[in-house]
Order: sequence, then structure tokens, then C-alpha cells
Amino acid sequence: MAQLWGGRFTKQTDQLVYDFNASIGFDQKLLHEDIRGSIAHVTMLARQGVVTEAERDSIISGLQSILRDVEAGELAITSRYEDVHSFVEANLIDRIGEAGKKLHTGRSRNDQVALDMRMYVRNHVKHTDALLKDLLTVLYQKMEENLDTYMPGFTHLQKAQPVTLAHHFGAYFEMFRRDRSRMHDIYERMNYCPLGAGALAGTTYPLDREYTAQLLDFYGPTLNSMDSVSDRDYVIEYLSALSMIMMHLSRFCEEIILWNSDEYRFVEMDDAYSTGSSIMPQKKNPDIAELVRGKTGRVYGSLMGMLTTMKGLPLAYNKDMQEDKEQTFDAIETVESCLTLFTGMINTMRFREDVMERSAKNGFTNATDAADYLVGKGVPFRDAHGIIGRLVLYCIEKQASIDELSLEELKGFCDKFEEDIYDAISLKTCVEKRLTIGAPGHEAMREVLEKYKRYLECE
Ligand code: ARG
Repeated sequence: MAQLWGGRFTKQTDQLVYDFNASIGFDQKLLHEDIRGSIAHVTMLARQGVVTEAERDSIISGLQSILRDVEAGELAITSRYEDVHSFVEANLIDRIGEAGKKLHTGRSRNDQVALDMRMYVRNHVKHTDALLKDLLTVLYQKMEENLDTYMPGFTHLQKAQPVTLAHHFGAYFEMFRRDRSRMHDIYERMNYCPLGAGALAGTTYPLDREYTAQLLDFYGPTLNSMDSVSDRDYVIEYLSALSMIMMHLSRFCEEIILWNSDEYRFVEMDDAYSTGSSIMPQKKNPDIAELVRGKTGRVYGSLMGMLTTMKGLPLAYNKDMQEDKEQTFDAIETVESCLTLFTGMINTMRFREDVMERSAKNGFTNATDAADYLVGKGVPFRDAHGIIGRLVLYCIEKQASIDELSLEELKGFCDKFEEDIYDAISLKTCVEKRLTIGAPGHEAMREVLEKYKRYLECE
């Protein structure tokens, strides 16, 4: 046990207590952040005359050598240390002696860990954003290629009206675009530096918090020392945004699983993204999509866990907060791997345009358009709705689609039907007439794709 405290104690910590309390097993992920934060802290201390320039230089090179040695596999992070902060400080003192003991001047592990975690999350907010952008870029390409790929649109999982694959993907483009804008919001709100808050009440040293903040690329220092050491809102906001990403991925996966089934056959998963069955030779399973859908649960779990951990904590720092790390790290790893795999899966999937189009043609997806046709001939919409409803019933009995009926049959339901009905309710017309912005018609979608193109170029 190598720990940073002990002066006040007359007995060794019980081993079980020590192990229970320790966080080195997981907070070693924060090594980079811890060292970067310490370098900034000591740089500021020297500028303020709290340590000498020689002490600063010795501390900085000591810190850099620790990082180098860990990365080279020459220095192991072991359970001899309580946490990553103790590991760094103990090794620093081993290496440079007395000067090393001055690093922690004007600092507490409370503001130190608050800083490390903030920088770690901040990095991943950026990385998540980049992965979302990769996904959006693939979606954009698929949309470009499928502006005229007709497919049924569903409500209640019943065929409703025809749309295009580009339009369907566009819905997900919107979702993931909002996810990116959440990353941006979180970054803007969280990018303030807690270092200098001390244990909870600041310090008596003449720290220049503005300067430390600037060295670490923050917009500025946080403005309340008690909040600084006990704020984990940014973790919760990030976990919430990650949960939302998973919810979007999970919905998308659910559709892909359906589309990949023998009942739909709208898509075919690339072999590289499917798995087989140990007993059924014919099987090609969409395991990746299922796993992404399944992993949504653990990310929601992290969010719920963290909300519950923070609930009821009195100000300021409490050890409960150490629980932020494992859940957050797990959620980050989960979402980042899901986004990467999902993007690859979409990129390699084969779309069966013929099957989608055939599916869009049956199921009376043109019934609304048939009613609209009658409205165009002067029939009030409510009456048109009733007429087409009776027509559909007739078609179901006859096992035919509306456009397979003869004009005489149609006239039997309403004398306003003319030869132009066939063109009015063709699949192409049904889609192409939907030209308000946001609708699936080719021209409307083109306009939207132009906007998406500009968005991907500059954001
Ligand atoms: N491992 C601790 C955490 O993650 C570091 C802060 C310890 N502070 C303290 N007062 N015990 O929260």
C-alpha cells in the first residue's frame, strides 16, 4: 500500500477496506489527463512563485518520464497504489526526490479527479462526435444512391404510404445529426476548469486559475469551488446523450433485423457482418445488429446508475462520486464500438431494390392517393375516404390491387373515376407528388441532400 495520507492514523488500513476503497483498477485510464493536469498546475505554480523554475522543470520532466515509461511498458500501474493520482505522485517522488513533494501544493485529489474526469469526457465527446459524422457520411452516400428506390413506409408496422430508401434513411440522418448537436451543447457547457477549487473551498495560495484553464484549453475557470469538486452533471448529460444514440441505433438495428429476415428480404447483410448457426447450416444471422440493440441496455444502465449515485449527495465531494468512472468508461467503450460497427454494417449491406419496390406496390399504399384523386374531382375528402375504403375491401376479396381493377369496376364505386386514375395512383406518382420539403419526392429530397452536403462540409 502506497498512499498519500497516514500521518493522522495509528493503524494500517485493513486490506479489505483498502481494496474496497481503491480505484487504481479503473482510474488508470485517466493517466494522460492526470499528467497533463499536473504539468499545467506546476507551470502555473512556478509562474506565481509558489515553486521555483528549477522545481517546475524537474517535476515536468519527472511526470513526462512516468508517462513515457508506462506507455513503453516499463512501468506497471499496480494495486500497490490507491489510485492513479497516488501512483503518479509516489513515482514522481521516487524519481526526483524532494521537489516531487511540492506538486500537490494548492491542490486536492478532489479538484484533481474532477479535472481528470472532465478532460477525459471532453475528449470522448469530440470522439463520439467524429464517429457520428462518419455514420452520417455513409448515410448521406446511401441516400444519394437511393433517391428513387421505392419502398413501403410504415405506421403501426403496417404498410402505409410509399416512400424511398433515401427518405427512410433521412429520418436517421436527422436523429444522428441531433446527437451531434447534443455533443456540441455538452462541450460548450462543460468546458470550464475545476482545478484550483482545492478540496472544496479554494486555497490560500495565489493560484492563477485563468492561466491553468488556458493551459488546458478550457474557456475559463469554474466559478464555485464547492460545485467544481462535486459537479458530475456533464457526465450525466453525456451518458444521457449516449443513451439517446443507442436508442437511435437500436431502432435502426431493429429495422435492419426485420428487413434482413426471409419475410422482408429488403436487405442482405454482408458476410463479413453476419454469423452462422452451429446447428442450422442455412442460417446467416444479423448478430451485430442484435448486439447493438442489446447493448443499449447497459448504456441506459450507466445513465440510471449515475443519476442514482448523485441523488441525495450533500455538498461537496463524497466518495460516492468515484462510482462515476466504471459506468462512464463502459458506456463510452460500448457506444464507440457500436457506432463503428454499425457504420461498417450499413456501408456493406446490399439493398434489394426490386423486393422493396414490389412490397411498396402491394398493401394498398396508394389508397390515400386514390382518395386525393377523387378530392381533385370535387368529391369531399370524407366521402372519398369512404369510397376508397369500400374499394379496398372489394380488392381484398378479389385479391387485386386498386390499379388492377378495370375502369368499369372503379366507376361502380364512384362515377368520377376516369382513365387518368391509373397514372395518379402509380407508385412513381405517389412518391413524386410528395414535394413539400421533408417529403420523399425526388426534388424535395434533392434539396434536403444539398443542405446535408453543406452541413457535412462545414460542421
Ligand atoms: N479516487 C477518487 C475518486 O475517483 C479520487 C478522489 C479522492 N478524494 C478523496 N477525498 N478521497 O473520486
